[in-house]
Amino acid sequence: MNVINVSDLRFGYTSEAVLRGVSLSVGEGDSCCITGENGSGKSTLLKVILGELRGFTGTVELFGCPIAQLRDLSRIAYVPQASVMNKVAFPTTCREMVSLGLYGDFGFVKVPRKRHFDRAEAALSEMGLGRYVRTPFNELSGGLQQRVMICRALVNDPRLLVLDEPTAGVDNESKVRFLGLLEQIRHDRNITVLLVSHELDLVMKHMSFDAIYRIDAGGICRA
Ligand SMILES: Nc1ncnc2c1ncn2[C@@H]1O[C@H](COP(=O)(O)OP(=O)(O)OP(=O)(O)O)[C@@H](O)[C@H]1O
Ligand SMILES: [Mg+2]
Repeated sequence: MNVINVSDLRFGYTSEAVLRGVSLSVGEGDSCCITGENGSGKSTLLKVILGELRGFTGTVELFGCPIAQLRDLSRIAYVPQASVMNKVAFPTTCREMVSLGLYGDFGFVKVPRKRHFDRAEAALSEMGLGRYVRTPFNELSGGLQQRVMICRALVNDPRLLVLDEPTAGVDNESKVRFLGLLEQIRHDRNITVLLVSHELDLVMKHMSFDAIYRIDAGGICRA
């Protein structure tokens, strides 16, 4: 069974289509990269796949289930493009930030409990970020914020990890370290990965992919 199955997808924010005739599939444990120019529709495609944007035509299935009918999103982790991440205006520590990855388990009152903080701390330590547990998220460098965000994505043991431009806006050394870490995690945990990046050369140097797609003029093809 494919983890992701998109077939003949068409979507537009207005009557004009941003994506048309888009088909792709990602198998269990596979890694897939989507590339393309700025504004080509990469983030839009991820948001449609994750059920964040409705009003498309065609087929979008996750784990064999049409996205509109999928109820349990807890095993799907999404690391949005940095501009979304940076909107974290409220003061929050790294531990709180990572515990948000367990939101589905917060219960009726929707606040994290001690066991959530404990798991968040353990996840941060595992990622080599133990010393930042109580550091305000906003005070970290872009590269460290990115590692905290992937920590948050992984804390709930996802089966599918979706990342939108995870290497954007950080220095080269952080990019290389981040991609190496991602490849290692993917390998160790056999997580299915869908990664969007316009820095294909760099990403390919540090990660291996089962499939690479390019979005161009609304359509998609294997690169
Ligand atoms: N919320 C929105 N409302 C209307 N149009 C949008 C919206 N978000 C994106 N668009 C448009 O849809 C097109 C695709 O945008 P999208 O963000 O998916 O591109 P992208 O490939 O992710 O670009 P980038 O490389 O800059 O991240 C662009 O023309 C963009 O202006
Ligand atoms: Mg984008």
